[in-house]
Amino acid sequence: MLYVKKPKFAPKSGNMQEMILILDFGSQVTQLIGRRLRELNVYCEIHPFNKIPAIGDNVKGVILSGSPFSVRDEKAPFVNLEGIKGKLPLLGICYGAQFMAQHFGGEVNGSIAREYGRAMLKVVDAQSPLFAKVSPTSQVWMSHGDTIAKLPTGARVIASTDDVENAAYKIVGEETYAVQFHPEVFHTKEGPQILANFALGICGCKGDWTPASFVDNTVAALRQQLGDDKVILGLSGGVDSTVAAVLVNKAIGSNLTCIFVDNGLLRKNEFEDVLDSYKEMGLNVIGVHAGPLFLKKLEGVTDPEAKRKAIGSTFIDVFDAEAQKIEGARWLAQGTIYPDVIESVSVNGPSCKIKSHHNVGGLPEKMNLKIVEPLRTLFKDEVRRVGRSMGIKRELIGRHPFPGPSLGIRILGEVTEEKLRILRDADDIFIKGLRNWPCELPSASYPNEMADNLYDSIWQAGTMLLPVKSVGVMGDERSYEYTIALRAVISTDGMTADWVHLPYDFMAKVSNDIINKVKGVNRVCYDISSKPPATIEWE
Ligand code: XMP
Repeated sequence: MLYVKKPKFAPKSGNMQEMILILDFGSQVTQLIGRRLRELNVYCEIHPFNKIPAIGDNVKGVILSGSPFSVRDEKAPFVNLEGIKGKLPLLGICYGAQFMAQHFGGEVNGSIAREYGRAMLKVVDAQSPLFAKVSPTSQVWMSHGDTIAKLPTGARVIASTDDVENAAYKIVGEETYAVQFHPEVFHTKEGPQILANFALGICGCKGDWTPASFVDNTVAALRQQLGDDKVILGLSGGVDSTVAAVLVNKAIGSNLTCIFVDNGLLRKNEFEDVLDSYKEMGLNVIGVHAGPLFLKKLEGVTDPEAKRKAIGSTFIDVFDAEAQKIEGARWLAQGTIYPDVIESVSVNGPSCKIKSHHNVGGLPEKMNLKIVEPLRTLFKDEVRRVGRSMGIKRELIGRHPFPGPSLGIRILGEVTEEKLRILRDADDIFIKGLRNWPCELPSASYPNEMADNLYDSIWQAGTMLLPVKSVGVMGDERSYEYTIALRAVISTDGMTADWVHLPYDFMAKVSNDIINKVKGVNRVCYDISSKPPATIEWE
């Protein structure tokens, strides 16, 4: 049996990349602060307020996030700012601003003038570097019940709104700033400029964190970390594992062995096509044909959770058996990305349990292999940009997410060879149709870019086979066949999703093609449910 130790949360930058440290008090929008800084090519890390990492010379500034708590709550999050405040540039946002007021000689009240939503900010100190190039009056987004009644010692107001006098302040003699509004959210019109003023101006960050610099630094760090050790990596055909594999391969070459398992539930020709692409990229990859074993384990299983468990445990067995053959392997590389890492350490626990069942590849907890996760500091679109900068083909980089249990959870009820054949053929028509349909819509994979075709404009698309038959008429004959449901959604992280308004003429063509070409189907439906309350997958 292969044993794997779960890593503790500890950023393993392995390099002295300059960065901004964000201390998270549990706000829903803390991740957005990270996003905005990354957009400025400033590297940052989000850590819970109660697990501050060691602060090295590479930390150029600190941001305190918002929070669902009031600083006046008995259990309000508390952070000791010794070693930070007055020593490094510091920006408190919302709760962060109120926290500093409360603990450094000011006062915070449950205010009569609560501010939620849009407000007009008036810059009081036009010389303040925090408001350089910001209009004298601009729209900001407020979301707080408390307000700062008295500023902390040594502070002066640098901006106000009609209802809130102390909307932003600075502590004189320190590079300590605070804003009661949220510069990270879209509705704060000049928020990006304010964050740029803090990170690039006040903190003096160079803004040189790019996909290419990430690749250089990570490859160097991986070489140092892994030395001559052998590493195993499970490829899924998805973006994250592919980019992780290419990075590790760049660092240690043939000491990396990738394992790609055919669970018999993949899309039409997917295993062969993806395996070929991996080989073309020079990856040392073992393709394991295990379809019959998976199908055997699924025989007679109809309950969705039981199906997931059967697929998950079979995957572990197959992967484990294959990994055992690789002598002297010491590491397991994984394509874990930043949202997974942040979620698992969020001050309020994971915001949503929905992901707990996703890690079908979740290997046993105990360990003989150490874990290396080269993408654990990246957001999804950054993973794609890093992949692109290493020359990975667009077909691989721009692939929609695909669940670990594969078509197994898109065939409702029992999985059989016949149903797999029907679903694969229908799915192939739908996905190829999306890829071949031109459109002028934004890309779902790359913010600020246009899509090449409908497929690129959609976050995820797929096809379900329903366990019902209905009556139809083909020629002069009565038919009694299966129904296919199409699903196409737009999302940012899969936690919430909206169905896509596909063009009618596209839907008409796909429906026609499926019914005419796929034997066993006489009806096609389109799923117009959002998540929540529905989920993306039907099982
Ligand atoms: P749901 O159906 O929960 O799906 O709305 C949200 C996203 O997660 C994917 N998904 C999975 N991914 N293993 C995975 O690796 C799984 O067991 C799994 N279940 C759902 C789903 O395709 C969507 O992108």
